[in-house]
Amino acid sequence: MKITVTGTGYVGLSLAVLLAQHNDVTALDIDARKVELINDGVSPISDAEITDFLNNKPLRLSATLDKEQAYRDAEFVIIATPTDYDPETNYFNTDSVEAVIEDVLHFNPTATMVIKSTVPVGYTESIKNTYTHHHFSPKFSSFSKQTARKKLHAQMTENGASEDKAESSPGSQVWNLATQLQQKLTNSGVDSDYNERFQHKQPNIIFSPEFLREGKALFDNLYPSRIVIGERSERAEIFAKLLTQGAIKADIPVLYSDSTEAEAIKLFSNTYLAMRVAYFNELDSYAETHGLNTRQIIEGVGLDPRIGAHYNNPSFGYGGYCLPKDTRQLLANYQNVPNSLIKAIVDANTTRKDFIADSIIKRNPKVVGIYRLVMKSGSDNFRASAIQGVMKRIKAKGIEVVVYEPVLEEDTFFRSAVINDLETFKQKADVVLANRLTDDIMDIREKVYTRDLFGQD
Ligand SMILES: NC(=O)c1ccc[n+]([C@@H]2O[C@H](COP(=O)([O-])OP(=O)(O)OC[C@H]3O[C@@H](n4cnc5c(N)ncnc54)[C@H](O)[C@@H]3O)[C@@H](O)[C@H]2O)c1
Repeated sequence: MKITVTGTGYVGLSLAVLLAQHNDVTALDIDARKVELINDGVSPISDAEITDFLNNKPLRLSATLDKEQAYRDAEFVIIATPTDYDPETNYFNTDSVEAVIEDVLHFNPTATMVIKSTVPVGYTESIKNTYTHHHFSPKFSSFSKQTARKKLHAQMTENGASEDKAESSPGSQVWNLATQLQQKLTNSGVDSDYNERFQHKQPNIIFSPEFLREGKALFDNLYPSRIVIGERSERAEIFAKLLTQGAIKADIPVLYSDSTEAEAIKLFSNTYLAMRVAYFNELDSYAETHGLNTRQIIEGVGLDPRIGAHYNNPSFGYGGYCLPKDTRQLLANYQNVPNSLIKAIVDANTTRKDFIADSIIKRNPKVVGIYRLVMKSGSDNFRASAIQGVMKRIKAKGIEVVVYEPVLEEDTFFRSAVINDLETFKQKADVVLANRLTDDIMDIREKVYTRDLFGQD
């Protein structure tokens, strides 16, 4: 099978490596450095299993920057590009996903696209309808993406999920949008030959949520908790087989659902995880305020097998690339739906960071040291890490902050000095903030402020 994976981040690269054990896989990216590294057998991200597989397994994997070469002969195209939260629209920015869909429709419209990027609930259904009725030509893509996205989100938000599903399904919302845009696109001179060839054919797009963790990306695809495919069809079964064929775990639960439900599964899963983090963090805020031993309470609570002793380690807040943005996106999908909990899960993270910052400020430190910006030890990036929110709050009070973060090459981070000589950093700081404790700072344990009780995630 010829498979192209677009986007070689945590999701794309782990899937590319998994599938390249048994298939011809082309990894496409816009980042020349990543493409070069992958072709040299070097992982651009920190992931033990990916490094091991690139070094030791006979993979049929090549990386490229060339879209035409990547898409021309592909039977499946897996889309794993970023979908960052856009505070202006209160929705994910899905431009990169649409850019890929347009390229695939242009170079190889019979390929089956599988969206692995996390998208808003209702997105796949909407986008399928949009491209069925218009098949935007790539040369007009900037118009189509900007306009369609804004209007689509506005309409999805306005209609909300409280109306009858048949009436307000994203498809019919987009149908309205499509009607409005029809004249404009025709006037713009959309590639008519292309339209004629593929008009009224639904593009081959499936959504399949990805559940992996950063740092364990390939491991989580070798031993997946489950595989969810948002379609019931032969091609959905073929795709599920491709994933199970590459995995090591036997008897992987596979669920075929509708596409909107598959999107909801992803956002509700991550929001549940965020809720659990927020719960144990608030338990810890309570214990710290009342001088109680958090560890004893969590141990006692976790002995109930319905709760369990996992994923219970207090932290400065939930963070990383996915939980903060996915919880916000789910809350945006709740417009017009009564809720208290989903909003509370989003708000709880701000409350926790305020609490941590206040606990530090009360100690009147002259210089606060931030020991690592990454969320957890072993990580190689610090996207949306909670400690950055705490750092911002402390700096707002005029307290000097210095940072120890070996991943950073710059001398400053948001105008705070980066001191990557650990001994100098330890001497300079009165209080050292560490989301996770490591042996490196055990010699200054009395200066360290952490809520890490169990030495795990
Ligand atoms: N990181 C995770 O733990 C995780 C887990 C599950 C789902 N997801 C979702 O998967 C998606 C990707 O996440 P990630 O962490 O792998 O992202 P990432 O930022 O690590 O990697 C994305 C890659 O896509 C490339 N890219 C961007 N635009 C492109 C384009 N138009 N064409 C080709 N390549 C392009 C980037 O250069 C980058 O290499 C996001 O929607 C994310 O929410 C992430």
